[in-house]
Amino acid sequence: MRFRHHRIALAPAFLPIALAITGCGQSASRQVERGRVLVIAAGCNDCHTTKKPGPKGPEPDMSKMLSGHPEEIKITAPYQPAAGSPWTVGTTDGLTAWSGAWGVSFAANLTPDQNTGLGIWTEGMFVKALKTGKHMATSRDILPPMPWNWYAQLSEDDLKAIFVYLRTIPAITNHVPDPLPPVVVVASTP
Ligand code: HEC
Repeated sequence: MRFRHHRIALAPAFLPIALAITGCGQSASRQVERGRVLVIAAGCNDCHTTKKPGPKGPEPDMSKMLSGHPEEIKITAPYQPAAGSPWTVGTTDGLTAWSGAWGVSFAANLTPDQNTGLGIWTEGMFVKALKTGKHMATSRDILPPMPWNWYAQLSEDDLKAIFVYLRTIPAITNHVPDPLPPVVVVASTP
């Protein structure tokens, strides 16, 4: 009799917990889906996914999704426009390496790979890096054309959703090089 009494008392107590667990699962998958949609809409693939030749020209190579500038494409010097040329910025076919007044920047590996991607990043670092424009949230400025100043205007929840989604994509080992410094133009003496 006492045992039955306990069962009756416990059942309603467990119900909210069970609902909370299912509810949590649903909101976690909603967060991942939100992140996926934001990554698509914010054009992260334009720069962070290299391209392969397609019938209409270069197209995203989704087998390398968001893994950044391919390590095998070596860039050792900036693009140097002809004197007086209106073209000042250069990029590779994959749109992953960019040369301009800031030097040469290489799109980062955003996959969860431990050593070459966002593996060691925390959610807090990711949000702070995109909010402040500081490399890994603390050091040098993040270089163009990474449009962090626009992404900084997204809500913290949106940035977190992007990070959580990026945690779910296939990890790709691809070591992206450090940026190259700008060419120092030495004024010629008359
Ligand atoms: C127009 C090209 C472009 C687009 C679009 C772009 N990125 Fe980037 N991103 C870059 C480049 C180039 C770098 C390397 C910058 C550097 O080394 O300072 C970079 C670097 C990063 C970094 C590393 C920052 C750090 O601390 O060094 C993260 C994280 C990042 N991008 C996330 C994203 C996300 C998420 C999106 C989409 C919401 C996105 N990027 C869209 C070009 C782009």
